[in-house]
Amino acid sequence: FSAHLYYNIMKDNGFSLPDDEKMLYGEFKKDFIWSSATASYQIEGAWRQGGKGLSIWDKFTHTPGNILQHDTGDIACNSYNKMEDDIAALKKVKVSHYRFSVSWPRILPDGTTKYINQAGINYYKKLLDSLIAANIQPQVTLYHWDLPQALQDVGGWENETIIERFRDYADILFENLGPKVQLWITFNEPFIIAILGHVQGTHAPFSDRPDTLPYIVSHNIIKAHAEAWHVYNDKYRASQNGMVSITVNADWAEPRNPYKQEDYDAARSVVEFYLGWYAHPIFNGDYSPLMKRSVLEQSLAGGLTKSLPEFTPEEIKRINGTYDYFGLNHYCSVLAFPVDFGEIQHFEADDRTWLESGSHWLTMTPFGLRRLLKFIKHEFGNPPIIITENGVSENGPVDLNDVHRKYFYEKYINQVLKYLLDDVNVIGYTAWSLLDNLEWAVGYTERFGLFYINRSDPDLPRTPKASVSFYSSIISCNGFPD
Ligand code: NOJ
Repeated sequence: FSAHLYYNIMKDNGFSLPDDEKMLYGEFKKDFIWSSATASYQIEGAWRQGGKGLSIWDKFTHTPGNILQHDTGDIACNSYNKMEDDIAALKKVKVSHYRFSVSWPRILPDGTTKYINQAGINYYKKLLDSLIAANIQPQVTLYHWDLPQALQDVGGWENETIIERFRDYADILFENLGPKVQLWITFNEPFIIAILGHVQGTHAPFSDRPDTLPYIVSHNIIKAHAEAWHVYNDKYRASQNGMVSITVNADWAEPRNPYKQEDYDAARSVVEFYLGWYAHPIFNGDYSPLMKRSVLEQSLAGGLTKSLPEFTPEEIKRINGTYDYFGLNHYCSVLAFPVDFGEIQHFEADDRTWLESGSHWLTMTPFGLRRLLKFIKHEFGNPPIIITENGVSENGPVDLNDVHRKYFYEKYINQVLKYLLDDVNVIGYTAWSLLDNLEWAVGYTERFGLFYINRSDPDLPRTPKASVSFYSSIISCNGFPD
């Protein structure tokens, strides 16, 4: 994927925002997946109910100083006990799918198959049955960051025995839940696990050995993903016929100065680093040359790492092709330009004209989504793409008329529709999130939900924001008909 092609993607779409923002009228393909998403630790609560073991997030949120306002997921949205309310919310949005994650320690309290917690399996079976009864299809994430604490105690993702643990866990889920599930996601955002959890320390498990850890952790995650995919492929595909893949996250990077080659190169490196770290071994085979070079350069400059682990030729073969679609979480864009090596994300800044949100890192930059989709098409062999997360936050006073979210969904979803012009194979879109929930280190202060939850009411009622009927009308029209 050359810098030249990167340039062409930009040129095709035009540099100027007004042009990019022109609405395209038309409908999505038939059977397009319309979804909304949550994750177990962010919504379930019931942290010591139903035989669940402790996760690294239980420990992390209970450690003073880690989470804004001392928030925890002990209760969260209490979705463990309020399943019917969540289903009612989903019905209101009229989604065809619902993306949720399974809490590993709810199924295997100490992370291993020594003890399988039937109550945990029953909970997810009931959720699947209720969804299917409501004519909503599940998209199930196996790992959305709540690792059993017992596995962390023996090294977590740093210890390669976790690959086998994850494979066993996946096997149990495919066996017990698989007959009702067509869409699986092995890992959510491995980049965030590696960087926020193992370099920056703003996420569990917190680790301050940035020199090698993110690369070792990611290496094991990539192998664990591949093993889970193979279990499905060998044992369950014939009878269950579903799709299994991984969800990676990426910002789009624009060159800060579109007339400077260095800024193009920097932009390309940023996107390649986000996506390619995981997607290249899985979609193309092995780490990309750019990834290898950039880690080496950082290392020579005395930066973050000593070395990128290597896959053996057998491992390269076993990992390559372990996907049934491309799962993408995307929120925003950054401006790229070269600076000294030494930090893992060394190229970023944003444009002060970009609209802000309730999260400091999230600017509203719809044009970037279309460009990123095109990049994926060219870089990773035109796979079917499911956008597994996209959304926006607010913080501060509650205003149920969330105009910024209506703007966000209209503009971003319209950029997705432009796949029709670009011939990108997008098959689904997922709004993050169904509910206002625990936004990790910033607790309940940043709200991404279509539904507002008044946390001072012990019932935690789900109140629709204005964006619910807006998103729902896009779904009912299957896009933006003329
Ligand atoms: C990505 C994560 O998967 C999700 O858990 C998080 O809440 C959203 N982005 C918003 O930051």
